[in-house]
Amino acid sequence: MISQTTIDQVFETARVEEVIGDFVQLKKSGSNYKALSPFSDERTPSFMVSPVKQIWKDFSSGKGGNVVAFLMEHEHFTYPEAIKYLAKKYNIEIEETERTDAQKEAANERESLYLVTEYANTYFQKILQNTDQGKSIGKSYFRERGFTEETIKEFNLGYALNEWQAFTDDALKNGYNIDFLEKTGLTIVKDDKRYDRFKGRVIFPIKSMSGRVLGFGGRILINDKKAAKYVNSPESDIYHKSKVLYGIYHAKQSIAREDNCFLVEGYTDVIQLYQKGIKNVVSSSGTALTPEQIRLINRLTKNITVLFDGDAAGMRASLRGIDLILEQGMNVKVCSFPEGEDPDSFARQNSLEELSGFLEENARDFIQFKASVLYEDSKNDPIKKANVIRDIVNSISKIPDRIKKEIYIQECARIMDISEAVLFSTLAQINRKEFQEANKKYKETQKAFQVIRQEQSVKKVNLQYELERKIIEILLLYGNKTEDFEDLILKENENSELILEPIIHKIKVFEKVFLDLQDDEMEFTDEKFKSLYYTIIDALNQNPELDLKTFVNSVDKELASEITTILMDDERYNLDNWQRMNIYPKEKHHTVAQLVSETILSLRCFLIDQKVKEFQKETVQNKSQSNKDILEEVKDYSSLKMLLSRKLNRVL
Ligand code: CTP
Ligand code: MN
Repeated sequence: MISQTTIDQVFETARVEEVIGDFVQLKKSGSNYKALSPFSDERTPSFMVSPVKQIWKDFSSGKGGNVVAFLMEHEHFTYPEAIKYLAKKYNIEIEETERTDAQKEAANERESLYLVTEYANTYFQKILQNTDQGKSIGKSYFRERGFTEETIKEFNLGYALNEWQAFTDDALKNGYNIDFLEKTGLTIVKDDKRYDRFKGRVIFPIKSMSGRVLGFGGRILINDKKAAKYVNSPESDIYHKSKVLYGIYHAKQSIAREDNCFLVEGYTDVIQLYQKGIKNVVSSSGTALTPEQIRLINRLTKNITVLFDGDAAGMRASLRGIDLILEQGMNVKVCSFPEGEDPDSFARQNSLEELSGFLEENARDFIQFKASVLYEDSKNDPIKKANVIRDIVNSISKIPDRIKKEIYIQECARIMDISEAVLFSTLAQINRKEFQEANKKYKETQKAFQVIRQEQSVKKVNLQYELERKIIEILLLYGNKTEDFEDLILKENENSELILEPIIHKIKVFEKVFLDLQDDEMEFTDEKFKSLYYTIIDALNQNPELDLKTFVNSVDKELASEITTILMDDERYNLDNWQRMNIYPKEKHHTVAQLVSETILSLRCFLIDQKVKEFQKETVQNKSQSNKDILEEVKDYSSLKMLLSRKLNRVL
């Protein structure tokens, strides 16, 4: 495990704006940064980073947190991976503490598997390059397919000798454990016999995004109807077929740079396109694309172009899988090759200019493409047509963006010669629930912004809620600070009137808040705030110096998210106003002490108002009873309120 010292050092050093700036284009906006949300498609920025608070908040998806939370969300890192990433970025040496035996074992096991695949990767390349069989059979095969020496080296292509256990023997001789050879699938163990899985095949190593060798694909060299053309590594602790894209390691930079990813079917398609100069290309290795694979691409670009072999049946089958890509909010284009050609053969026969030109001219928006294919299929068959409408609208319904959905409906109506109304009502039918949810969410966000707008004009929207929230914010921001508080002690003078006498004392903000609220026997009405309040007071009691920054890092994810929401909420003013191009100067409090006093006093005034209202209600209801006592109390409260208001005015 990474030691706490290292973790602390990472948190002390890492700057949220620097880390996020590596992934997202940040623009300065007052004391904050803003950007387009990396978690959703949007045109106006709703993503905020606060260098002061060292947190970020994405108002479009609701996500937010500290620097580590960002890396976990955006890069899909685990917590330790995020810490390690930051340590590397900031040149912090990682100190490891003892792991439990189980942890050690799992990590060691995975490391051992990686060691074995790395070894095999080197071995297969050596066989290809340095042995007679490798050169005459393996190398000449690759040459025949048009792969250059440079390409062969770049993709670490290799060859496995056509012998039953040449590789296994070599690995064992070099000290590799048979268990790990078996678990990676490089060796097949049957009874007391051992076989090389990839015997007599050319080898395509499969790498992770970061370049580690996870497994292999091996292609047979002879035309044998009975033997599989490709043999692949089996699933293991390091190789999960559904989470890997062949070529992603080589392609990732140009995918991000070109802001597009070409998706092909096979190993050789990837290599051929890459060699020709189209480097932003990956393959799902012959299987239907999985959501995990799409997510890998989604981290790098929102645009994907699916390249189909030139056979119509295969293309029609693949059209279905594409809905998964739409679901992740990506823009999908498709491009099919001339009959009998695949990306591999087409790239081989044409120059880069011809290839790029072809892709540019023939890549078509997926929905439009599907609509026209379906239209052709069904134009003279009304029964088919009904199914086809459902099919296309189903695809459209997967698109998260409402506006895009609408545009597509209009577009498809035109292409398929159907009325928009029919398509819209089908859409509503298919996805009534989804539609309603999206609508609800939209309305909620609208409402949230409205609350803020109203608040600026009529400062009355659920005052208690706002004040409770403010108290939490104060605790988070300034809880550990020591301030001078001018406290007014409530006294009765000789005329038995209530007066306030000022005294100054120096205490921590959290103590002040806690004591004052206790004085009033004030309980939070909002459950979330209540639990946060006690968590924070508890933490500060244990460590009065506790910094907000480390506090957010130590609480669970949900709580942390709640905290960031509160802390970032005032930034929403900025955001909202920025969007309306109208700068709203936020009044700043002169001192922390003033802010604290103002908030607590406001809350007291509010509570007194409530009390007075309650009494008044009672008075009305209990006409028969003597109301004298109640009236007395109301009077007391009213004078108290007056004093408090006076005091409040002083603070302000
Ligand atoms: N595939 C596989 N097992 C098979 C056949 C195919 O794993 N028995 C996967 C491979 O990843 C292959 C991809 O599906 O790259 C596409 O299959 P195919 O088009 O048949 O192979 P190509 O890559 O075109 O191979 P080649 O050009 O060498 O025939
Ligand atoms: Mn092929």
